[in-house]
Amino acid sequence: MNTVFKTITENEDNTAIYEEAGRIIRVGGLVAFPTETVYGLGGDALNKDSSQKIYAAKGRPSDNPLIAHICDIAQLDDLVSDIPSCAGDLAQKFWPGPLTLIMKKKAGVPYETTGGLDTVAVRMPNHPVALDLIRYSQRPIAAPSANLSGRPSPTKASHVLNDLNGRIDMILDGGSVGIGVESTIIDLTGSKPMLLRPGYYITDDFKQILGDVLIDPAVANITSGTLPDENIKPKAPGMKYRHYAPKAELVIVSGEDKKVTEKINELISQKEAAGIKCGVITAGEDPALYPKGLIKDAGSSDEERAASLFAILREFDETDTGFICARDLSEGRLGNALMNRLCKAAAGRIIRV
Ligand code: TXA
Ligand code: MG
Repeated sequence: MNTVFKTITENEDNTAIYEEAGRIIRVGGLVAFPTETVYGLGGDALNKDSSQKIYAAKGRPSDNPLIAHICDIAQLDDLVSDIPSCAGDLAQKFWPGPLTLIMKKKAGVPYETTGGLDTVAVRMPNHPVALDLIRYSQRPIAAPSANLSGRPSPTKASHVLNDLNGRIDMILDGGSVGIGVESTIIDLTGSKPMLLRPGYYITDDFKQILGDVLIDPAVANITSGTLPDENIKPKAPGMKYRHYAPKAELVIVSGEDKKVTEKINELISQKEAAGIKCGVITAGEDPALYPKGLIKDAGSSDEERAASLFAILREFDETDTGFICARDLSEGRLGNALMNRLCKAAAGRIIRV
């Protein structure tokens, strides 16, 4: 399949591109597009064939449900059978934005979209290209992150091209995304709201509307940096898969600053002595602290780190690095979301000093 690559240019008339992209979605094709979190791989959420194509293009297990993206709150009526009143309040405050809500699905939403579940995940993305694409397609758009299954989520159109060229109909390039980690997921179908995936919004942000939000124990495990207990099944099926994994072995080193630096330098020296090319993911420190290895700085604030982490993991894949040490990134508001991704990328390998 030939993948058409189109760049959306601000202040220019992109109507013809959107009309073509919208038509592709309506006839059951796939279009990758930017959102404020990561790039998504979109298809008609109400067409089971489109959802099957998404799984095939990504190589994704079909029990891992997709998020339906909307541009207008009225589209909830096409997707959700029973809209809880708190959903309206959350939508008012957080949409468009990086929040996904799990609710009971309408009969018309195919099980192919929801991974066989009776619930559906919905969000309204805060990105003009995503919103225009949904508008022109006149459909809710099912979109997982636009990466091959298991790889880091794409934060630039070039990442999507690397993973999915020849496997999808079109890529809309809208530049680098702003946030860089996927949306926060809240399940509203239980007796109490539950956080299924940490993201830009944290549980405190929902206090006013939802009161206390439970945290899926499978998520809490990963966030605290321990390997998830295999007996705890995450409520978001996608959270059980290994994700974001770079080709190199990745370990996280956590603890007091000076000790962390020492430990990283010690590990790198050992690996280099064994002939293995090494890399370090730093967190805004002076690169002179790390005399050995290929240094990639994630940035000194949590927001910079979120925006750069997935791209850094991909950059290492383009080198012959065999071993990477990353500093703990749990500091700041986005620390939980970052450690959740980093721990998965490291398959839970964390060294505390
Ligand atoms: O920021 C985002 O959410 C991005 C952009 C493209 O919107 N999308 C994204 O999709 O991260 P994906 O497919 O990579 O992750 C969706 C997650 C998976 O962990 C999946 O299991 C969970 O959402 N999910 C979807 N529907 C669900 C449902 N009905 N119940 C529980 N979890 C669900
Ligand atoms: Mg994903």
